[in-house]
Amino acid sequence: MISVTELEAKEKRTDDDLEQRVAQPVIQLSHVHKVYYMGDVEVHALRGITLTVKKGEFVAIMGASGSGKSTTMNIIGCLDRPTKGTYILDGQDVSELSRDERADIRNQKIGFVFQGFNLLARTSALENVELPMLYSNNNTADRHQRALKALSEVGLSGREQSHPNQLSGGQQQRVAIARALVNQPALILADEPTGNLDSRTSVEVMEIFQRLNRDDHITLILVTHEHDIAEYASRVIVFKDGKIKNDYLVTNRRDAAEELKLLPPIIEDDDDE
Ligand SMILES: Nc1ncnc2c1ncn2[C@@H]1O[C@H](COP(=O)(O)OP(=O)(O)OP(=O)(O)O)[C@@H](O)[C@H]1O
Ligand SMILES: [Mg+2]
Repeated sequence: MISVTELEAKEKRTDDDLEQRVAQPVIQLSHVHKVYYMGDVEVHALRGITLTVKKGEFVAIMGASGSGKSTTMNIIGCLDRPTKGTYILDGQDVSELSRDERADIRNQKIGFVFQGFNLLARTSALENVELPMLYSNNNTADRHQRALKALSEVGLSGREQSHPNQLSGGQQQRVAIARALVNQPALILADEPTGNLDSRTSVEVMEIFQRLNRDDHITLILVTHEHDIAEYASRVIVFKDGKIKNDYLVTNRRDAAEELKLLPPIIEDDDDE
């Protein structure tokens, strides 16, 4: 007789197989080079990056300062183009697209989260989250609904009217994540999203990323300098001198939700000033 554990294991294998078979590449970089020209000086930021990321992966990018991490993120995020090589995003070659065409793709497919949050200071959390939708065809009521939903997904219901300076660093980063989410992107790119946060707040942010990845199958790529943050991802890619030095799967993956349960609760200060 087959035991429950065996059955579960078998079921999991089938799930994994299925996932493997249906997982399409979202990102295909091949032999990508990036050269910046500063007057007469050429800076070779990327020297031949070949990389495939499949739908639903959670990738952490690591590497020393200047190794090309942000340059790669800018190319993946269609903010910049390779000098040489090709980039296929979701089956479409985007290496040769114009600035406007890239802006459209960014708006449809990609959400960005940065270390410094990049929120508009004199604008409420809700309005910050509504911003990316101003370029799409949604009507005001629909925009409003979606922004409220995104804020609730990151645990900020009730703080919609707060301005960034009335929110903690972690709360501001959550607004930024809600803003990245609101157009339902297939891909979220985060460049050092926990760089300015204390360790507990970092775990809270990683819990949101892991949840979005697991429940909504959003593909995530995150740059970090911290090994313990990289361990929340499922795969780590290490850059060195504009090349990929290492690419491996995380074996003992951390679970942010479980870790949060073990941390002592904090009393949030609800004062707005
Ligand atoms: N706009 C630019 N003009 C000229 N050189 C640039 C530009 N952007 C990046 N570089 C150079 O390209 C190289 C890679 O930079 P990049 O920002 O990708 O590094 P990084 O891995 O993100 O570093 P960090 O960890 O410090 O953020 C560096 O030598 C950098 O000085
Ligand atoms: Mg960088």
